[in-house]
Amino acid sequence: MDRLCINGGVPLHGEIAISGAKNAALPILCASLLTAEPLHLDNVPDLKDIETALRLLEQHGVQTTREGKESLTLSAHSIESLEAPYDLVKTMRASILVLGPLLARFGQARVSLPGGCAIGQRPVDQHISGLKALGAEISVEHGYVIAQAKRLRGAVIRTDMVTVTGTENLMMAATLAEGTTVLENAAREPEVVDLAELLIKMGARISGHGSDRIVIEGVPALHGAEHAIMADRIEAGSFLCAVAVAGGDIRLTGAAPKTMGATLSKLSQAGVAIESGPDWISAQMRGRPNAVDVRTHEYPGFATDMQAQFMAVNTVAQGTAIVVETIFENRFMHVQELIRLGADIEIDGHTAVVRGVPQLSGATLMATDLRASASLVIAGLAASGQTVVERIYHLDRGYSRMEKKLRQLGANIERVTG
Ligand code: EPU
Repeated sequence: MDRLCINGGVPLHGEIAISGAKNAALPILCASLLTAEPLHLDNVPDLKDIETALRLLEQHGVQTTREGKESLTLSAHSIESLEAPYDLVKTMRASILVLGPLLARFGQARVSLPGGCAIGQRPVDQHISGLKALGAEISVEHGYVIAQAKRLRGAVIRTDMVTVTGTENLMMAATLAEGTTVLENAAREPEVVDLAELLIKMGARISGHGSDRIVIEGVPALHGAEHAIMADRIEAGSFLCAVAVAGGDIRLTGAAPKTMGATLSKLSQAGVAIESGPDWISAQMRGRPNAVDVRTHEYPGFATDMQAQFMAVNTVAQGTAIVVETIFENRFMHVQELIRLGADIEIDGHTAVVRGVPQLSGATLMATDLRASASLVIAGLAASGQTVVERIYHLDRGYSRMEKKLRQLGANIERVTG
């Protein structure tokens, strides 16, 4: 198993390119199932989760052709299987995103329930009840969601909570339904907007994306399209947290600062000098960060996917920060590992109190989930001596060559294989 060895205390300098967003690319890849015509995608990030999604689509019969590192053509012309098997779904929960498209285009689907997850229960009940509202007959048998519908019918659906992939699944399904669907309490995340923009290019009639009320007028069929995946706001935010703890001067290209309001504002409060243009961000940091309180929230609030990385920033900050996680029940798995570096953190339920210390000291740590891994790498950049982060397959799921990009910025970080 690969691990990362980091010798901390080196300021970061230089420029790196931000990759396409994992959480936009995954639903967009699944949208290929909605049409018999090819989808051409650019800025697809080179990630383990993308590989898993492609394997899943290929076993459905989708032809995938790579054209260079970040471009792909997908053709769901001849679909062979309407089943998403447990072996793939259990490794990536986003596999549930094939349910809406398969059901809408082929009238049936059999998709494994994802099962447990390190950061919380993460049920998919809202996906299921939403599809039922669209007229599907759904049962859960032997661990599989079995869904059937001759043709879905538009409906008004109000999800019990804001769900990102739930909104995406229902939006995709509704594009081919008969009549109009209204998604109330919809997720406003930029990744939902990117998916809607692709679907519109495919001939879908969607309005209101980016607000909490999305209206979809069903059409009989969708067609092929070309689309470039939006920039990864979480990857960009993670590198900005890295410079917040290590100090230095970095520039991110291919970024989308307009999707990063909450993160950029917290980084400014932490003392990072930020400048940005339409597709770039520069950040300069001197000295220790200031402690910043963080409360996770749906977009446009502070993203839960940035909570762990900000926790790392707060461990070395001047002052005490309160970090509240409101989206997932169990997203503090990084805390015990940060404590092994000398961080002073106390957890009470969904709240963590982080008292900044002047210096962390390197240790061997174990990554537990994707964003937790990034937080440990960031903390390692601030720690004295060597930090070893084990189980970085979690990191590889969602960060494209993170250690290479950090090395490009001058960090002393190596991947050790085996
Ligand atoms: N929820 C339910 N029932 C549902 C759906 C959601 O109870 O049917 C609950 C969840 O358990 C959670 C809350 O609603 O407590 C929000 O979950 P949501 O459905 O929004 O999360 P998701 O769609 O499964 C996506 C991202 C996550 C990100 C969350 C929140 C993708 C592929 N994943 O997950 O990304 O944390 O939204 O923003 O888009 C990551 O990239 O590291 C990651 C975990």
